[in-house]
Amino acid sequence: MQAIDLLLTRRSVKPQDLIEPAPDGVDLDRILEAGIRVPDHGKLSPWRVQVIRRQGQDVLGDLYAQLFVKEHGERASQAQIEAERQRPKRSPLLLAVTAHPEREHPIPVLEQHHSNGAMCMNILNAAHALGYAGNWVTGWASRHPAVKQALGHDEETEIVGFIHLGTAKEAPEQRPRPDVAEIASEWTGQA
Ligand SMILES: Cc1cc2nc3c(=O)[nH]c(=O)nc-3n(C[C@H](O)[C@H](O)[C@H](O)COP(=O)(O)O)c2cc1C
Repeated sequence: MQAIDLLLTRRSVKPQDLIEPAPDGVDLDRILEAGIRVPDHGKLSPWRVQVIRRQGQDVLGDLYAQLFVKEHGERASQAQIEAERQRPKRSPLLLAVTAHPEREHPIPVLEQHHSNGAMCMNILNAAHALGYAGNWVTGWASRHPAVKQALGHDEETEIVGFIHLGTAKEAPEQRPRPDVAEIASEWTGQA
């Protein structure tokens, strides 16, 4: 497939619809290499990625369940607690992409964050190019200090995304998107 067709056909696939095989070995290396091949103003490398396989997902899932119970007390149903436990375990592979901007630097932190977003996007496109699929999610866990701490980060560190990866159980349907004409226009400088 031509590169342009890959870009025009990529779709996110719900984490629970991602099954084995997940990228590993050379494929995962290439996906991560594509991830760092992004615009990065000032060459600051403001991104980090953690690869979370089944063992790590189990630990993370137990933490989510524990935090959910702690925060919702008796209002938390068993089904909700189990759903939270499953949250990071829905796909065979999970990546945690975190932002590590240099705060006292002439390159604005926002620009460094843009580079992080570009990394997530390149990871998704590279996975698609190799025949896998993914989904970039955040949710409450990505903002929770205890989750950041468990992953080895301080409270200021932003989890830019959890990227679920695997193989699509079935080909995803297309979703409606705006016409390019709705969001793109020509500016000529003339009144
Ligand atoms: C920063 C960011 C966070 C997101 N977080 C979630 C999320 O927590 N849950 C979710 O269902 N979709 C989330 N999405 C949307 C999906 O990643 C995806 O864009 C959506 O399912 C549409 O699919 P598409 O990529 O095929 O257009 C997020 C997107 C971005 C850019």
